[in-house]
Amino acid sequence: MDTFAFIIHPIDPKRDVSRKFPLLGRVLNERQIDFFSTFFPPVYISEIEGIRSEATGKEIKGWFIACPYTPRRMMELPARTVYKKIIQTGRLAEKLGANILGLGAFTSVVGDAGITIAKSLAVPVTTGDSFTVSVAVDAIREAAKVMEIPLETATAAVVGATGAIGQVCAELLADHVERLYLIGRREDALEELRDRLQVHARAELIMSTTMDVLADAQLILTVTSAIHDVIQPEHLQPGSVVCDVARPRDVSAMVAAARDDILVIDGGMVDVPGPVDFHFNFGFPPGKAYACMAETIALALEGRFEDYTLGKHLTRERVEEIDKISKKHGFRLSGFRSFEREVTLEQIETVRRNATRSRKVRVAQM
Ligand SMILES: NC(=O)c1ccc[n+]([C@@H]2O[C@H](COP(=O)([O-])OP(=O)(O)OC[C@H]3O[C@@H](n4cnc5c(N)ncnc54)[C@H](OP(=O)(O)O)[C@@H]3O)[C@@H](O)[C@H]2O)c1
Repeated sequence: MDTFAFIIHPIDPKRDVSRKFPLLGRVLNERQIDFFSTFFPPVYISEIEGIRSEATGKEIKGWFIACPYTPRRMMELPARTVYKKIIQTGRLAEKLGANILGLGAFTSVVGDAGITIAKSLAVPVTTGDSFTVSVAVDAIREAAKVMEIPLETATAAVVGATGAIGQVCAELLADHVERLYLIGRREDALEELRDRLQVHARAELIMSTTMDVLADAQLILTVTSAIHDVIQPEHLQPGSVVCDVARPRDVSAMVAAARDDILVIDGGMVDVPGPVDFHFNFGFPPGKAYACMAETIALALEGRFEDYTLGKHLTRERVEEIDKISKKHGFRLSGFRSFEREVTLEQIETVRRNATRSRKVRVAQM
C-alpha cells in the first residue's frame, strides 16, 4: 500500500501540546512550552487510515508526526537548527516507510521553504503550498458569491502578498477583480511583484505597506507568517469577506467579537475522499483536512512520489495541476468555517443584514 507522512507542530502551544500530552499541557505555561520544545525529540502522533480515491478506488495510509517547535521558536532559532529538527522528524517518516512527506504550517515557511530539508532526506517532500493557493482562491470566490459581491467590480487585497503563498494568490486574483491591493512590509519586493503581475493582470494593482487600505477592500485574503494577529476590527469595512489562510491566524479574535457585519472564513479546509480517520484531533471536524495535508495525500493517491512544491517561488502551473489531481481523487472545498466553528447560510444572511445596518449608521454619522 502506498503511504505518506505529514509533519505537524504546535501552533497554540498550550492547547496543542495538551492534545497529545494532557498533563504537560496543564502544568507548563506557554513560555515554558516554547522553551522546552527546543529539547523535545520528534513525536509520533498517529496512523491515518480510510483514504480512498473517488476516481480509482486506490487506498493509502499515512502518519502524522510532530516537530516539537512552536512558530515563535522556529522564528527565533537559527534556520540551521530548525532544519535539523525538521530533518530529524523527516527521518521518522522514512523509518515508518512513507513514500512522500508533507511539511505542515511553519515547517514549510522557515528558511528556503523545504529545499534544504528535501536535499537531506531520501523521501520526496512537498510543502503543500500549491494546493493551499488553489483552495484559498476558490474559497474567497465562493464567499464573494454568497455575500453577493460581484468579483468583476470588486476591490480585493492580499496581505502577505510578497510571500510564497501570497504571490500566486495575488496573481490568480488579479485575473478576476477590478482593483487589487498588494500588502506587504518591503516596498522593493512589492514593486517587483507589481511589475511582474502588471503585464497580464486585469486588475489595477496598488501596493501598500500599511493595513489602512483594507478599509477600501471588500475581499481580503490574508496569508502572512506573522506569529501574532495583524488584522484588527477597525481595519475592515462592513460587509467585507476575510479569508484567513495563515496559521497562526492573521485575523484578531477581536474581529469575531466586535464585528458582526464581517465574514471571516478559515482558508484552506477541504473534504478528504473516503472514510478517513486521522486518529488525532487537530481541530477540524471528522473527514476534513488542511489544503497542505490534502496536497500530500493527493500526490500519494496519484503515485507522484517526487519533490513537488518546494521553495518560495510557486508556479501557477503547479497550482493548476494539483487542483486537477486533487479534484479528480475527490477532494472538495469544505463548507465555511470561522474561528473553528461552522458558518451556516443563516449566519451569512445575518452578516449581510448587519452590514447594511452598519453602512446606514456610517452614512448617518458623516
Ligand atoms: N492553511 C493552510 O493549509 C496553510 C498551508 C501552508 C501554509 N500556511 C500558512 O501560510 C502562512 C504563510 O506561509 P508562506 O509560506 O507564504 O510564508 P512566507 O513565504 O514566509 O511569506 C510570509 C509573508 O508574510 C509577511 N509577513 C511576515 N510577518 C509579517 C508581519 N508581522 N506583518 C505583516 N506581514 C508579515 C512577509 O512579508 P515580508 O516579505 O516583508 O517578509 C511575507 O509577505 C503561514 O502562516 C503558514 O503557516 C497555511
